[in-house]
Amino acid sequence: MININENYLKLKSSYLFTEIEKRVTAFRDTNPDKEIISLGIGDVTKALPRACIKAFQRAVKEMSDDNSFRGYGPYKGYSFLRDKIAEIDFNCRGADISPDEIFVSDGAKCDTGNIQELFSLNLKVAVPDPVYPVYVDTNVMAGRTNEWEDGRYNGLIYLDTTEENDYVPSLPHEKVDLIYLCFPNNPTGATIDRERLKNWVDYAKENNALILYDAAYVAFIRDSSIPQSIYEIEGAKDIAIEFRSFSKTAGFTGTRCAYTVIPKKCMAYDKNGNKHSVHNLWDRRQTTKFNGVSYPVQRAAEAVYTQEGQKQIRSLIDYYLQNAKVIRKAFEELGYKCNGGDNAPYIWIKTGKDSWEFFDLLLNKANIICTPGSGFGRCGKGYIRISSFNSQEKVKEAVNRIKTALR
Ligand code: MLT
Repeated sequence: MININENYLKLKSSYLFTEIEKRVTAFRDTNPDKEIISLGIGDVTKALPRACIKAFQRAVKEMSDDNSFRGYGPYKGYSFLRDKIAEIDFNCRGADISPDEIFVSDGAKCDTGNIQELFSLNLKVAVPDPVYPVYVDTNVMAGRTNEWEDGRYNGLIYLDTTEENDYVPSLPHEKVDLIYLCFPNNPTGATIDRERLKNWVDYAKENNALILYDAAYVAFIRDSSIPQSIYEIEGAKDIAIEFRSFSKTAGFTGTRCAYTVIPKKCMAYDKNGNKHSVHNLWDRRQTTKFNGVSYPVQRAAEAVYTQEGQKQIRSLIDYYLQNAKVIRKAFEELGYKCNGGDNAPYIWIKTGKDSWEFFDLLLNKANIICTPGSGFGRCGKGYIRISSFNSQEKVKEAVNRIKTALR
């Protein structure tokens, strides 16, 4: 008899987006003639930037010739990509990150999910609520939580992020060890200012904690006063890991490329109090379990950093931000309170109804898919998240349908 990892039994039956998919499939089966517009899962719809495509094609061509063919790449990623990331995403913004501190990977979801493996099961883990479900579920799978009760797992510390604190979690009253932060935020669309981010960095330093900073949506920041990286804050290199992705920045959700920064100064401790480099632990983990991102994909990602690439990703993000503006305006005109959509692709909408009830209402009356806020946590109850990832034509049509359905 094979015994299972019983922590899996603690998980709610399905991942949020799988549950949505189930409901949508059921709706499609009974309404085959209805054209559904998805503003649900944050999946990009526009083609890869031309600069990336050209680099991708050139690299594929190299793979077709024995003289330029490449097999396994370096575990951390090719230096042609890591050099550009360090220079353009960090050094140019005053954040001192070296290429050697960067691990190229196939996704921020995988990295934010896997990173907890490095740490003890006894840690006090803090997550925002609402929260990207991956942070929570991977800690449940690992055995860091007890039973699910009243919309939360016992054993985790939830940081309420609500209208009252502008959707930026306040510092915990108790001492926590591992802190997940995500800015621009999924799902609330909130951003964090320098001062509040500094408070978090100071808290982590004072409490020997580690911040796991998910900046997958950084490309949507248009307000220059908002920090793009946690490493723009002094002292963050000692206590923070940052996750970035090309998925939303350059339309790579189906192409797969991301990276994680683990500064060499970042330390964690064994039970005898001896310190260990988190960077080295992750390196050990990745070299054992991961064989890197394909060469053509890394070349395509590198092209993001060319002049042409930078221009193209800017207009790609502007396109989605324009959608976000249209969606937010429509809901506000209908009298709903909204957050986000200005420096983020998501709009967080207070519905005044149960989230799933509102989801069903939009699906049935407007044939629009959104994401129920309660799926992201207890503080998401009564909210929905609308994603701006779709074509401008479809968003226009969606907004018209929503106006008719909700008036
Ligand atoms: C979302 O809709 O929250 C995103 O698609 C999540 C992800 O990128 O994994």
